[in-house]
Amino acid sequence: MSHASDDVVIYSPLNPKAPSGSGLLGCGADKVKGMARPSNVIEVKAEGGQGEHSAPYPRALVEFFIKAFTDPGDVVFDPFLGSASTMVAAMALGRSCFGMEISAGYCDVAVQRAQTFAKKPFLLAGSGATFEQVKLGRRLGQEDAIKEELEEILATGGTR
Ligand SMILES: C[S@@+](CC[C@H](N)C(=O)[O-])C[C@H]1O[C@@H](n2cnc3c(N)ncnc32)[C@H](O)[C@@H]1O
Repeated sequence: MSHASDDVVIYSPLNPKAPSGSGLLGCGADKVKGMARPSNVIEVKAEGGQGEHSAPYPRALVEFFIKAFTDPGDVVFDPFLGSASTMVAAMALGRSCFGMEISAGYCDVAVQRAQTFAKKPFLLAGSGATFEQVKLGRRLGQEDAIKEELEEILATGGTR
């Protein structure tokens, strides 16, 4: 039994630029066909309802690696948290999880998904504010900024 796979590109510092001129780093001409083998293919069921992220990992895939590399009680770190699949998988397996996410929108998706799974509110470190309070504070801040801008426009007679 074997799995078909796409060509696998060899990444190497010796190949600093893609020959296609795409600007991709380390993407050389060396390609390997058929590297996928039963031993290195992990089959998991795709899962719906993982939050609004464009590229969520199936939770079962993350769980496979968490089980393989950590013990219950360990701490898992995901620097590209997205919709928090890693955090949810870590909680389900009795691990803690820290994560980073560059997109403010996806941070919201992650917090909402993780706290729904945990069935308890997540609190902002320092202030202890709930997610709902943080969201409200953010909205009020935006409303203040809009109000200030409007006042400025009116003060200049609508010339800016
Ligand atoms: C492939 S997605 C991760 C999906 C995640 N495993 C899930 O199941 O939802 C990669 C995420 O990394 C985030 N990201 C990209 N660059 C980042 C950076 N420098 N620091 C933190 N997050 C980053 C993106 O916004 C994106 O949500």
